Amino acid sequence: MKLRTLPSQSVLLAMPTEKKLLQVLTRQKVSPPPIWLMRQAGRFLPEYRELRQKAENFLDFCYNPELAVEATLQPIRRFGFDAAILFSDILVIPDALGQQVTFEGGVGPKLNALDGPDDLSKLSTANLHEHLSPVYRTVEGLREALPPETTLIGFAGAPWTVATYMVEGGSSRDYAKTRSWAYRDSDTFSQLMDLLVNATADYLIRQIRHGAETVQLFDSWAGILPEQEFHRWSIDPARRIVSRLKQEFPDIPVIGFPRGAGALYADYVVETGVDAVSIDSSVPLQWAAETLQQHVIVQGNLDNVLLASGGEALDREIDRILETLGNGPHIFNLGHGILPHTPPENVARLCDRIRKQAG
Ligand code: CP3
Repeated sequence: MKLRTLPSQSVLLAMPTEKKLLQVLTRQKVSPPPIWLMRQAGRFLPEYRELRQKAENFLDFCYNPELAVEATLQPIRRFGFDAAILFSDILVIPDALGQQVTFEGGVGPKLNALDGPDDLSKLSTANLHEHLSPVYRTVEGLREALPPETTLIGFAGAPWTVATYMVEGGSSRDYAKTRSWAYRDSDTFSQLMDLLVNATADYLIRQIRHGAETVQLFDSWAGILPEQEFHRWSIDPARRIVSRLKQEFPDIPVIGFPRGAGALYADYVVETGVDAVSIDSSVPLQWAAETLQQHVIVQGNLDNVLLASGGEALDREIDRILETLGNGPHIFNLGHGILPHTPPENVARLCDRIRKQAG
């Protein structure tokens, strides 16, 4: 595959940028803050639902650069968000490692569950980049298509969250199978996690080489881990991934999202080396301002249910977030992905209200 000749990322970052998200990620205070929403491309948009019909299987949709570029751009056109997040899914990694993933309407992802150490030999990194090359082409296409003020975010699932899908064979209520493998036989579980740490770092490095300007690591199920396990399976893998990325791209900011980590968010920001942290809606704002914002840039944390329900309660919460996090570097976002039944008018209302805030 041919790489477009882009100036190196460090040269790009050294130049004054009109990208508000990158300004904040380099610790400049920007007011009103930049806005983007997790899962901003997707089913809450009628234009997405129409486009989605062009491929039967969801992963085929993700592996089609033309469709994936279009899906990424849809929310940017409608709302002028400050960042576009690459359209793909965290489960392309198990798929690329040889554990086939399918999505069936209404039931979510399905994988042939790994039953234990004997199944590890079924996974291989041999075809990782070949398999993921359509995603890299999407990244390139997006850098060409995006307006100059819009930052392109690459992403991957964090090893723990991806491992839960691989071991459970899909979504689960309590992820008990994964947790008990990790307790019972932590040596072989470490082998799975090491494989995922390396594949995820390699994948994110490629996304950056092809044009991603920052990356987010989604650890959506970090919050089910007790303290020691959280250190071992969420913090440590994130630290290793951040360190590999920083070795190659010291100036590319990394955003971590250990959803549900509670008080352990504080350890996560100090120990992983992330530049920014995305906080879920349960994190108290004042605590985040005092404890987290001194170390990192804080992203969040509007309740996605409140965005879907709208009205004056939404306005009040937007104002409270802006006020409490507004003294430090802040990126406005949800505490978790946007819900499919969210009225697009509520998103427009959110953007208007934030942008009207006095600078
Ligand atoms: O704008 C964007 O953020 C789009 C890119 C994106 C998707 N998934 C598209 C998607 C991103 C960043 C993700 C991340 C993702 N995927 C996470 C982490 C974030 C989070 O919400 O916790 C997780 C856990 C997944 C795994 C996943 N993908 C599940 C469990 C499901 C089924 C449930 C659901 O929400 O539909 C998906 C499917 C998926 N990923 C869809 C989209 C737009 C819906 C599929 C469709 O359109 O048919």
